[in-house]
Amino acid sequence: MTLAELEKQQAQSLAEVAAALDAAALEQLRIRYLGRNGIVPAVMKQMKDVAPEERPVFGKSVNNWRSTLEAAMAAKAGAAEQPRAAGNAFDPTLPGRWPAPGAKHPISRVIEESVAIFNRLGFSVADGPDIESRFNNFTALNTPAHHPSMNASDTFWLAEDQLLRTQTSPVQIRIMTQHQPPIRIITPGRTYRRDTTDATHSANFHQMEGLYVDTKPISLADLKATLAYFAKEMMGSTAGVRFRPHFFPFTEPSVEVDFACHVCAGQGCRVCKMSGWIEIAGAGMVDPRVFDFVGYPSEEVNGYAFGFGIERIAMIKYGIPDIRWLYENDARFLEQLR
Ligand code: PHE
Repeated sequence: MTLAELEKQQAQSLAEVAAALDAAALEQLRIRYLGRNGIVPAVMKQMKDVAPEERPVFGKSVNNWRSTLEAAMAAKAGAAEQPRAAGNAFDPTLPGRWPAPGAKHPISRVIEESVAIFNRLGFSVADGPDIESRFNNFTALNTPAHHPSMNASDTFWLAEDQLLRTQTSPVQIRIMTQHQPPIRIITPGRTYRRDTTDATHSANFHQMEGLYVDTKPISLADLKATLAYFAKEMMGSTAGVRFRPHFFPFTEPSVEVDFACHVCAGQGCRVCKMSGWIEIAGAGMVDPRVFDFVGYPSEEVNGYAFGFGIERIAMIKYGIPDIRWLYENDARFLEQLR
């Protein structure tokens, strides 16, 4: 092989490397030229046939070929990753990306605000599980065995004695079976009913229960004053609350509680459907039979209980017309409430 031939080969190998389309093609070229049986080592072996005076130049040229080829292959392999690295280069002159500020969900807000209000009145937060026993959710709350609310069409039953609680009232039972009076608790939490979802119903919603039990006399007036304070703090209402007679198995007497409409202050408007009042809660004096179920001496203790819907307060307070908006996590809706 002459020096001219050598240079021609060298040029061709570099052109082939430049034209290689991917890593596999490059590897093929590496084996072809630099591999143990490749062209460059073969040319090396021909050194003995080269005229002695040409050998130094020839040898230098072959060595140069090898290192040039290696460098070209390494550069080509690196180039495959280059464009990406260049695209990701940090540009300190670009404006920063601001995360959109978060907003607290209206349900969380109402729960937190309610807890704060009742804390000021000496109530502390108690908790209970979403999965309850028949005893805690119904029996100990003096609900007769064939009460319609126990039907499979109303309640999510998980087993013979296991259900998704239909109200937060079972937490009353949990607390009273574990603690002695005086008791002053509120219990926010999830509740479940087999309701078909529409603008005002959801199969999963939230309630907050309140329970006050003591050995000293407690009256319906205490209950009313407590809820009036809550209404005023929560809604900014000045007109207070109204009680209407009602029935619950676990309170006697029982009432339904209306807040004076915070929009029209009782004058009548669209929000309160011209009545001046908005239904908010169920409440009453704890039925002595409930005390019997939890093992309290029913002649010596008395108290009141109430339970209200968190969604209901959130919808009224923030003017939300459809309960489903509260569960859709539509950022546009949540941003409105920031
Ligand atoms: N648990 C009742 C309901 O879900 C509300 C209630 C609570 C009524 C406490 C009286 C006392 O409708």
